[in-house]
Amino acid sequence: MEIQNIPENFYRYKQMPIWTEETIPEMVLTMHNTKVWVWWKASILEWALKYTAFKDPRWEVEYELVINAWEFGTSSPQKWHKVEPIWKLKMILEFFEEKPKAVQELEEEFKKAFPDKSPHYEVEYLSSIVENRESKKALDLWSGGGRNSLFLAKAWFDVTSWDQNLDWLAETESLARSENLKLTTKRVDLNETLVDQNYDVIISTVVLQFLEKESAKKLLKSATEKTNIWWYNLIIVPVDAEDMKCPIDFPNLMTYEEYLDFYKDWEIVHADDMVWQFHRTDENGHRIRARFATIIAKKIK
Ligand SMILES: C[S@@+](CC[C@H](N)C(=O)[O-])C[C@H]1O[C@@H](n2cnc3c(N)ncnc32)[C@H](O)[C@@H]1O
Repeated sequence: MEIQNIPENFYRYKQMPIWTEETIPEMVLTMHNTKVWVWWKASILEWALKYTAFKDPRWEVEYELVINAWEFGTSSPQKWHKVEPIWKLKMILEFFEEKPKAVQELEEEFKKAFPDKSPHYEVEYLSSIVENRESKKALDLWSGGGRNSLFLAKAWFDVTSWDQNLDWLAETESLARSENLKLTTKRVDLNETLVDQNYDVIISTVVLQFLEKESAKKLLKSATEKTNIWWYNLIIVPVDAEDMKCPIDFPNLMTYEEYLDFYKDWEIVHADDMVWQFHRTDENGHRIRARFATIIAKKIK
């Protein structure tokens, strides 16, 4: 594990369950390496982990490293190494691989126009799998600073951005205009609004938790009903999980399974409940972690 940054054109495709000193698999405790195209990242939730790097598979130690709670380490492809709990341990291991070419191409175009905006990988991925995007209608439920709305518009969707913050909406609209993109905005309070027109793609990223629980359910139901058949929804939202209760007391905290239930008759293109971190920090300056439901689903009837 080096303190090397994982390359920007890589994305996290897998996360292992939380490991303790009792559940950490034997395989990572002995010398091994990763595949040519895979980066690792180990985040320590509690206690500490020792990492030993080897020069080659003949057990000659290159260096040793201790990774403490709240720190992380990375390991580049094919690096020979082993890890061991120092005493007790609670950690998360994640795997990264290169983004698909189609995503990288869309990203490149987007970065040229909006170098300061970083959309969610899932929005990029969804855009990349839709072949006939031109002028298809996309709705961004709470567009915030506009990163995802602008990405969808740059990828040729005809975008409607909803938020309650007028300044952000004005900024998003003017950025879209500077690139001649199809994007309109509307100020709404989503505790009192339902989706009332049909769309091809509806996204909601890291916002449903702010609503009252009943409003969030009604809104999401309206979004599913107003999505055209053969088209998509994408949601990313913090959830309460058995192994990790969301530490922030949002008005709406459902479980991953409850969110999946909205899409039980849809084709699930991608779904996971990996651990992420908020921008918000705790009293010690550590970024707060929680599980997030990430669901991309296609309406098939
Ligand atoms: C964490 S930001 C996420 C923004 C965006 N989806 C993204 O991923 O960058 C949360 C957004 O929810 C909006 N919001 C919160 N409560 C709202 C409400 N009741 N009605 C409309 N927008 C709301 C805020 O204005 C903010 O833009």
